[in-house]
Amino acid sequence: MSGKSNARHTRRAVLAVTGLAAGLAPAGVALGAGRAQHASEYGFALGLTYLNTGSLGPTPRRVRAAMEAAWTELELNPVAMTYNDGPLNLSADAARATAAAFMGCGADELLITRSTTDAMNTLAAGMRLTADDRVLTTDQEHEGATYCWTHMARRGGPAVDVIPIAPADRDPAAIVERFARAIRPRTRAISVSHVISTTGHRMPVAEIAALARSRGVICVVDGAQALGQIAVDVKAIGCDAYAPAGHKWLMGPKGTGLLYIRQGARDAIDPVQLQDGHRFVNNSVGVGCLPLAVGLGVAAHDMGARGMAEVEAHNLALRNRAYQGLARIPRLRMVSAPPGDPMATALVAAELPADIDSKALRAALLDRHKVVSKMTEKRWLNGLRLSPHLFNTEADVDRAVAAVRREMG
Ligand SMILES: Cc1ncc(COP(=O)(O)O)c(C=O)c1O
Repeated sequence: MSGKSNARHTRRAVLAVTGLAAGLAPAGVALGAGRAQHASEYGFALGLTYLNTGSLGPTPRRVRAAMEAAWTELELNPVAMTYNDGPLNLSADAARATAAAFMGCGADELLITRSTTDAMNTLAAGMRLTADDRVLTTDQEHEGATYCWTHMARRGGPAVDVIPIAPADRDPAAIVERFARAIRPRTRAISVSHVISTTGHRMPVAEIAALARSRGVICVVDGAQALGQIAVDVKAIGCDAYAPAGHKWLMGPKGTGLLYIRQGARDAIDPVQLQDGHRFVNNSVGVGCLPLAVGLGVAAHDMGARGMAEVEAHNLALRNRAYQGLARIPRLRMVSAPPGDPMATALVAAELPADIDSKALRAALLDRHKVVSKMTEKRWLNGLRLSPHLFNTEADVDRAVAAVRREMG
């Protein structure tokens, strides 16, 4: 089935279950190019300026309505609605097909998971790695993508090699070269983020995947900060596995993620979830949460219908505004790529001076200004991060920048 007809089929199935009419734009949603989605489409607390989609995205009312309809339907007759070819099970299959079309892969190459971390754990556990093997990653990975490898290493599994990527490293060719030099004879997997969660740098994943392929190494990409933020086509990237979140930039239900495993990589990555097909229920992981799957499908559908070019343009304009505003605040040092840099994405981060407690600043921004930001206090960076998405406006960014300026004195 082609991606297009797949998507059409899926849309019909999801809409049939959710009762949402085809082509219906929810009230209050501005679908015009470059315009923010109306805040009323979300359930934010009154007056909140939410600039932390990089941690968790809001779930639009339309997606929540679809899930609520699915919950209601499920309870009419739980077994009949779920097991085997129950309508909700079919809807979950259709949702997976929608998400697959959005990522450019086949539905039979995609699993629905609970999160990015869950997807990474699942794929790592499905690899036959021994104590003699090695995994190559970077010092900029999120814990959600490193727990799996370090856990295996602790239990006598593969050694983990880590290459440094500094915020100033914005030469894609030099980064790929660093990976090339670090591959050793027993390197079995490269594990790298598509978009780095702290700096927001877009990594040259297609080139890294090509390198991995040429050296017989499996390439695993953590797409937590990418899917729904930038266009993702896993076939064009050419990686063996891709693990995105459903609950960040895609704005799907909290507690959802996806896992793509390339058909040809099935021998190298064979998680237990695939033992009984991809079904979200009655398979090798037991009964799943079908309404979440339905919501994920609607979120993927809606993001695809809007188009990633529009999403990216909207978000880049806002992040550039945030960058320029933050860069003018004395004592803040920008660590994200400047406007116009091909590595720049919607995540924009700055380093705070050592005498500023990032937790206290975050609390002050929320308590006094109702601005939700992210502080990266746990990591190498004493940092502040803003991550604007579709629903944000220039006024949101200006409010946040003014609040930071004020709190920093
Ligand atoms: C790059 C990256 N990977 C993984 C994760 C973990 O995401 P999840 O909660 O979906 O497991 C995050 C969360 O911020 C992230 O930024």
